[in-house]
Amino acid sequence: MYASSQYLLSPRHRDKNSARGGGHLMNFVMPEKNPYLMMEGIVDTIEGNCMKYRVLSGIQPTGRLHIGNYLGALTNFVQLQEEANHECLFMVADLHSLTQSYTPEEKRAEIMDLMTTFLAAGLDPLRSTLFRQSRISEQSELYWLLSTITYFGELSRMTQYKDKVSRQEENINSALFTYPVLMAADILLYDTEVVPVGEDQVQHLELTRDLARRFNNRFGQLFIEPKALMTQATRVMSLDDPTRKMSKSLPGGCLFIDDTPEIIHDKVGKAVTDSDREIRYDEEKKPGISNLLTILSGLTQKEIITLEKEAAGMSYGDFKKMAAETISNALLLYREAKGEWGHKQKQVEEIFQAGEEKARKIADKKIREVKRVIGLL
Ligand code: ADP
Ligand code: TRP
Repeated sequence: MYASSQYLLSPRHRDKNSARGGGHLMNFVMPEKNPYLMMEGIVDTIEGNCMKYRVLSGIQPTGRLHIGNYLGALTNFVQLQEEANHECLFMVADLHSLTQSYTPEEKRAEIMDLMTTFLAAGLDPLRSTLFRQSRISEQSELYWLLSTITYFGELSRMTQYKDKVSRQEENINSALFTYPVLMAADILLYDTEVVPVGEDQVQHLELTRDLARRFNNRFGQLFIEPKALMTQATRVMSLDDPTRKMSKSLPGGCLFIDDTPEIIHDKVGKAVTDSDREIRYDEEKKPGISNLLTILSGLTQKEIITLEKEAAGMSYGDFKKMAAETISNALLLYREAKGEWGHKQKQVEEIFQAGEEKARKIADKKIREVKRVIGLL
């Protein structure tokens, strides 16, 4: 029913998607600078008008979303749902978020906040299936089954795990280690073909593909090998250290999507740049300016080259003022919608429950097939 390898990269398409491309589906780019990804062929762009294919992704409810999460994940979810040839499932990855410390009250509020954010950002329950990970217990079941074919060594190589263990001072729990297996279960259970994520998740996608292949080799063709779908704003950098990724765990460098216009002006004004005067995209020599250009391009859908032209002759101060203005205007609609959905929490709950019913139907069928081929049913 779903096309599994239709997303071939034609030369025409590749030109449009060059690192400086922009707009519409052209927003999705092959990270050409990363030869490893090219070689593995696990990252792809999508050619329009192919058969309907299934898209799934998730975000953890672990606090306020920043502009990196917004551009690297959420806005792409919305864009994908707008394309008629995708069947989209988006989930609040609440189980994954339990790997970090929390209180039950905080967790409940964070989950509801992210559900509200999904809707405020434009995810539409008529076009996307929206659900909470923990409400579909089949995902946890498949997690266990997949963990029996996952090697200790391959999990030990996961950079996100190593990174988290080195930064997290306490509560080094075993779920931090097995985290990518649950993610693989989330993806494989729904016959997902395309997973829109930021660059940091690509290694987990690669493991997911390996597990699908290993399972299929042993038990017969059951799982689809999914592809990661990357965007132009695949790596938004920290405002106070543009050589590091913007991350919730380093809040000092984050521009949060619910920051007020005043805070946005203040943060962008203080963003670390260089001592040069030229507004030009150069990740190595001018990481701060390049990062602001990336953010602007992601929010306005303008090509970076166009933004460079528009900013020609501006001082850094004026450029930052213009950037802050553009960013806060671009987030205005989101902020208003978030406020409105905030008053309709019962409706938010109902929307997710309806999505969970739909997701459960797919999950139930698939887990039975898995159990059957393994010999449990
Ligand atoms: P964080 O690293 O801030 O804790 P998460 O791990 O919760 O963020 O990521 C949620 C989604 O946002 C993922 O798809 C991830 O790839 C994407 N993402 C996170 N940080 C960035 C960033 N700085 N730039 C682009 N995308 C990002
Ligand atoms: N691990 C992802 C993150 O940290 C969240 C996630 C959980 C996810 N399950 C997923 C993303 C399945 C894509 C597909 O951001």
